Parts: sequence; C-alpha cells; structure tokens
Amino acid sequence: MADTKTLHDAFIDELRDAYDAEKQLVKALPKMARAASSDELRDAFVSHLEETRGQLERLEQVFASLDEKVRGKHCDGMAGILEEGKSIMEGGFDDATMDACLIAAGQRAEHYEMAAYGTLVAWANVMGHTEAARLLEGILNQEKAADEALSALAESGINEAAAGGDDEDDEDDDEEPPTPKPAKPSATKSARGSKTTQSGGSSQKSKK
Ligand SMILES: [Fe+2]
Ligand SMILES: [Fe+2]
Repeated sequence: MADTKTLHDAFIDELRDAYDAEKQLVKALPKMARAASSDELRDAFVSHLEETRGQLERLEQVFASLDEKVRGKHCDGMAGILEEGKSIMEGGFDDATMDACLIAAGQRAEHYEMAAYGTLVAWANVMGHTEAARLLEGILNQEKAADEALSALAESGINEAAAGGDDEDDEDDDEEPPTPKPAKPSATKSARGSKTTQSGGSSQKSKK
C-alpha cells in the first residue's frame, strides 16, 4: 500500500533537484569563465559562481527550515544543458562567436533555473512555508539578474563582434585560424588591404 505522494513530496524532490543543479553549475561556471574572451563576460561568470555558492547555502537553509536533510538528486535537465555547453566550448569557434555562444549557453541554464525557482516559490507559498519562500525568492531574483546581465552583455557588443568576425583580438597569437580562402580569381590585391572594418569600438550601448 504505497502512500500516494503529495505536493510536499514533489516540493522536496524539486528542491533536491535544484540543489544538484547548483552543484553542477559550481563546477561548470569556472570552465565557462576560462573559455570567455571578453573580460566582462568572464567577470559575469565569476561573479555568478560566487552567487551560486551562496545559493547552495540558501538552499541548505531552506532544507533546514523544513526539517529536511540536505540532499541533492541528479538534475538531468541541467546536466543536458551543461553537456551542450561543453560541446560549444569544444566547437572551435572564433573568440567573439565563442563568447556569444557562451552567453547563449549561460542563458539556457538561467532560464532553467528561473523556471525551477519560480515553481518552488509558488509551491512554498501555497503550502505556507514562508521562510522557504523568502529564501527561494532571493535565489530566483539572482537568477533573473544573471540572465539580464548576460542579455546586456550580448547586446552591448558581443553579438555584434561575433557577427562581424572578430579580428580585433588583442592577444597576439600567431596561430591564426586556418581560413582556407579559395583565392578569388578577380584582382586579389595585396593581402588584406581593404577589409571593411566595422568594429571600430562603436558597440551599441543602449543603456536606458
Ligand atoms: Fe543558481
Ligand atoms: Fe544561475
């Protein structure tokens, strides 16, 4: 006579899932930070790593407030998102495109978290777990802010740089990516004379 499980059971399950997801992120974020070329993007990943460590502590407080043992349960969803992120990092993209892709991967993770914490807050409220709801809402707000910060970075020049082909890489690495240009039959003037340089530092800063 197996007991039918309740919303409370589902809630605890989701909490364990979230706890595991955050643990996965604590491992993944440093790798994403290392793969980033933009200083701002790297900083964003590093600072969200710090927040994520804090979120683990907050989740531990949530478990405590419910008299539950702190426990994680493998989060397949986050594992999948991070697996995709890993293939991006191994994808051989140019620096600017890699940054744009890292933002895309990061935002997938943030949206997954936002969905999870949105549900957790709603469930905590409906079951009268006031303290848990307050803590979870704090985490939810951090996830939203992290997502917005990534959007702002994308829109403040990273996407544009990716679209324009990033040749303004200030690391002077000799190993230029192999660009097998099938030398145009037309007047191929001496090397790279007149490339339309659209980078010029004028990124769209729509700060308002
Ligand atoms: Fe998180
Ligand atoms: Fe997050």
